[in-house]
This record gives sequence, structure tokens and C-alpha cells, in this order.
Amino acid sequence: MPSQPIDLHGRCALVTGAARGIGAAAALVLAREGADVAVADIISPDETVQAIQAMGRRAYGIHCDVSMASDVRRMADEAIQALGHLDILVNNAGIVHRHTLMETREEVWDKVVDIVMKGCFLCTQAVYPTMKQRGYGKIVNVSSISGIIGGAVSKADDTPEKIKGRSGPAYAAAKGGVIALTRWLAKDMAKDGIYVNAIAPGACETDMTKGFDYGVQSLPIARLGSPHDMAEAILFLASCASDYITGQVLNVDGGWVMA
Ligand SMILES: NC(=O)c1ccc[n+]([C@@H]2O[C@H](COP(=O)([O-])OP(=O)(O)OC[C@H]3O[C@@H](n4cnc5c(N)ncnc54)[C@H](O)[C@@H]3O)[C@@H](O)[C@H]2O)c1
Repeated sequence: MPSQPIDLHGRCALVTGAARGIGAAAALVLAREGADVAVADIISPDETVQAIQAMGRRAYGIHCDVSMASDVRRMADEAIQALGHLDILVNNAGIVHRHTLMETREEVWDKVVDIVMKGCFLCTQAVYPTMKQRGYGKIVNVSSISGIIGGAVSKADDTPEKIKGRSGPAYAAAKGGVIALTRWLAKDMAKDGIYVNAIAPGACETDMTKGFDYGVQSLPIARLGSPHDMAEAILFLASCASDYITGQVLNVDGGWVMA
């Protein structure tokens, strides 16, 4: 069959961490191409929901902590009840920490790993049955170049506080774990028509990076990424445009990492 332009009409998506930042941009771009979207977050997703509804698409907000199995099961049930089924899952919810090894307390390690890595596992497990039943699914995990290069460094900026830091060990390990999980899932799920890929953002202008200087002027593409840069890559991996791709990690980083 000849290839077709991207068209997500009739597709239903669940995006976690979609109240703001990269998740909100991804939810809006999926809706722009026709998808109905369940918008999950630990904070109010109302703004994203309203923006999608204003585009004439169905949108449904769900309060959920992706690190809690019971919350995640309820989220998936609510999303399926509201939209009918799920074709697309974007595992985007995440938090960062910038502690050194010795500063990283056990509670910090557990919280970061539980949200970033366990959350990705729990959400995938929760939507797998409905995707398997329909024989179709696109799962896009939002990793990070920190999970490839071992933490992204930000230099002191020119505020009086001189904010700087490198994303910490739990974040780098959890994002690296998301990449390994992406590949494990891709091998397991292709037989069910479910394809699993990841993006690895570099420095992207969101609340997570506010006040930090990543020295982007020395990148081949010498600017910060925007949430829309990430969202377009997520769209590619969530659509028919990537139908022969699974288990891959797409660096969306202005050329920061080339390997
Ligand atoms: N901004 C960057 O430079 C950058 C770089 C690499 C990777 N990432 C990743 O991109 C993703 C999105 O981050 P962002 O930059 O948009 O930051 P952000 O802080 O603006 O957005 C993260 C969202 O996740 C939500 N969230 C946090 N904990 C949650 C939980 N337990 N359950 C449900 N939702 C939760 C937050 O409420 C927020 O809406 C994260 O996974 C982040 O690690 C960001």
C-alpha cells in the first residue's frame, strides 16, 4: 500500500505529564493531527484539556501519580471508558534532580526512579491489554540524553544565584533504564502490532530547565529545544510515518549527542 500523510482521526492517545511542557505540546500536536487525547498529570491538566477541546477533539483530564500502580490502573480504565480504546501511549511524566552522588538520599533515588522508570513500566502494563486486543499500538517513551551520556551539564548562568548543575545519578540511571525498557518492550510487543520507541531530548525550554544555562550556543543547532520540537518527534513515532521502526531512540537535542 502506498504511504499516506499522517492522519490520527479515530486514534485515541494517553499522554502522561501532559499538564505542561513537553507532554502538553505532545498532546496538542496529536490532537492537531486528529487524535482524541486523555491528559494525565499529578497537577491539574485542565488547561491542556481545554486547548484540545477548542480544536474540536475529545479530551479527558485524569489526575494520576504514575508511580502508584493503583492510580495508573484507574487512569487507564478511565481513559478507555472516556475514549473507547487507546492506540497511542506517551510515557512523558518525569521529574529531575541535580544532586551529587553523596547528596543523593535514598528517598530522592526512590522517588526519581519510581516516577521516571517504574511509571513508564506501570503505564505500559496498564494499556497493553487494550492495545493487544486491537492488534495496534504506538508507545513513545520520553527518555533523555542524560540516560545516554550520564547526565547533562548546565553551567552557572548569569543570575545572582549562579544556578548550575548536572542531572543527578538517579535521573541518569532511570532515563537509561527507560531506554533498555523501550528495547525490551519493542522485542516483546511487535508480534501484537505494538511498536515502542523513545525520544531523548537534549535541553528543552520548560519548567524543568528554567534558570539553567546549558551552553547551547556551542551546539550544532545553537539554541534550546522547544516543547514543540519534542512533540513533532513524538508525533512521528506515534504515527504511521514510523511503521517500520521499533526499539529506537531518537535524539532530539540539536546535535548534542551524535552516536
Ligand atoms: N526539559 C528538558 O530539557 C528535558 C530533557 C530531557 C528529558 N526531559 C523529560 O521530558 C519529560 C517532560 O519534562 P518537561 O521538560 O516537560 O518538564 P515539566 O516539569 O514541565 O513537565 C513534567 C510533567 O510531569 C508531571 N509529573 C511529575 N511527576 C508526576 C507523577 N508522579 N505523575 C504524573 N505526572 C507527573 C508534572 O506535573 C509536569 O506536568 C520528563 O520525563 C523529562 O525528564 C526533559
